[in-house]
Amino acid sequence: MQFDFATPVARRHPDWPSQKWQRYDEDVAPLWVADMDFRSPPAVIDALDARVAHGVFGYGVVPDSLREALCDWSRDHYAWPIKPEWQHWLPGVVPALHLASLAFTAPGDGILTVTPIYPPFLQVAERTGRVAQFAALAEPEASGEPWQLDLAALEAAITPETRLLLWCQPHNPTGRVWRHEELEGLAELVERHDLLVVSDELHCDLLLDEGAGHRPLAALFPMLASRIITLWAPSKTFNLAGLTAACAVIPDATLRRQFIAAGRGLLPDVNVMGLVAAEAAYRHGEPWRQALLETLRGHRIRLAEAVAGWPGVSMSAPQSTYLAWLDLRHAGLGDSPQRVLLNEARVALSDGADFGWPGFARLNFGTTRSQLAEALQRLDQVLAQ
Ligand SMILES: Cc1ncc(COP(=O)(O)O)c(C=O)c1O
Repeated sequence: MQFDFATPVARRHPDWPSQKWQRYDEDVAPLWVADMDFRSPPAVIDALDARVAHGVFGYGVVPDSLREALCDWSRDHYAWPIKPEWQHWLPGVVPALHLASLAFTAPGDGILTVTPIYPPFLQVAERTGRVAQFAALAEPEASGEPWQLDLAALEAAITPETRLLLWCQPHNPTGRVWRHEELEGLAELVERHDLLVVSDELHCDLLLDEGAGHRPLAALFPMLASRIITLWAPSKTFNLAGLTAACAVIPDATLRRQFIAAGRGLLPDVNVMGLVAAEAAYRHGEPWRQALLETLRGHRIRLAEAVAGWPGVSMSAPQSTYLAWLDLRHAGLGDSPQRVLLNEARVALSDGADFGWPGFARLNFGTTRSQLAEALQRLDQVLAQ
């Protein structure tokens, strides 16, 4: 079956406003927030149509069939046999990060994460009255090389107060798929310092390198599974972020009870459309996902070709997802390259400062080939000097 990843979809239409397309002026190409400019899989749209036709939108429940669909997805893709009752569905991954802090830590406890990182990770501790602890990743030594986990830096940031590690694999914004040795080192450290881990694995269905494989942290290290809260969602994979459905997979019954209790009265139920979309995506979305990956692989090549023509700019080739992390510190654009590119190229990237690394920017290539080409051409005019 053919899927259309080539025809631009109007997203500035006032009837269907989107954060990505409405934030900047009309002449700006938006390559920032992490959603894609593609329609979701036809099977998802059909399932939503059928649910709309039912016409009653009262309080829902998470259907057993959705829990089973995620169990099947986990077994088939990641060889991790999760149980239906380990799943706690909730309206977003970012709320789950905050909930984990409330559920598992006390005021004064340390919450550790690596930088650069998806911005909400940087804010969880402060927003929940805990102590933020950060460790930088090791920068690539040359353009095209990967960012690496710096275990010594991570260990140095740990104090007796550290309780929770907010972890991201594959990693946003670098696109890193961590090597087994890096994860082994991490696991050893987690155990030795008696930490709990929230493993945000939201981008794990979008591995771009042929032959690359994702394994959930909790599946790789079964002896740690009782300390790990795995966060999954169909939102990035199938472009469903606006339907706000995500799942915390928590094998340990005590942690699960604490986590669920912390959210009572704070979080709404997952909306009924999100549940329908999630189940259709996991059950029927695989051919669409494969076609999407082909499209993104092509985009990654075109992006790398463009970056090669930009003096002073480097990028570690994203191994996953549709986000590229650009080092613009030597591009001669001053302190805020994101702002210069917005003003002069009329392309909106995400500002690296928000990820803890000023001078960098994140580029979202989850768009059509023609829209990406247009944006790269505009960037060429400023960067290819
Ligand atoms: C790593 C990561 N976690 C969480 C989120 C946001 O998830 P949600 O919209 O479910 O809160 C994103 C969105 O880009 C992300 O990249």
